[in-house]
Amino acid sequence: GAPVEADISDLKPGEMKVFEWRGKPVWIMKRTPEQLKTLADTTAEVADPESTKPYTMDLPDYCKNKNNTRSHAGHEENLVVVGICPHLGCSPSSRFTPGPQTSLPDNWEGGFLCPCHGSTFDLAGRVFKNKPAPNNLDVPRHMYLSENKILIG
Ligand code: FES
Repeated sequence: GAPVEADISDLKPGEMKVFEWRGKPVWIMKRTPEQLKTLADTTAEVADPESTKPYTMDLPDYCKNKNNTRSHAGHEENLVVVGICPHLGCSPSSRFTPGPQTSLPDNWEGGFLCPCHGSTFDLAGRVFKNKPAPNNLDVPRHMYLSENKILIG
């Protein structure tokens, strides 16, 4: 499939946009400084903090850790992930508001919840421990054409 150019110039901190790439939804989320700080706390609670397990995609090196952001250096605020649950392929939904929420832990810091079997992911798309999803959300290969233009694929 051809690479897709994603324009995120209208994306405000805390917002997410969906792009289509190879028939898959790719989420681009601009994390706030507060949201980025939560990643230090969730690191101990996720199953594969450094994304070292075998992945369906050939994970780019930059998504392996980098201060837990899974992002390019200099673009740490932007999360770019495939919005498909690595368990059985359902579509997780965003639960960005911290605090107690239905089917989420009381200390929820924001992230994503898969409605099918309850896998939860942090704001770097990393799956929490003891959930059915075997892997973190995939980060597709991507590069920055400019501050607000990302080439996916
Ligand atoms: Fe997402 Fe099963 S498909 S938890």
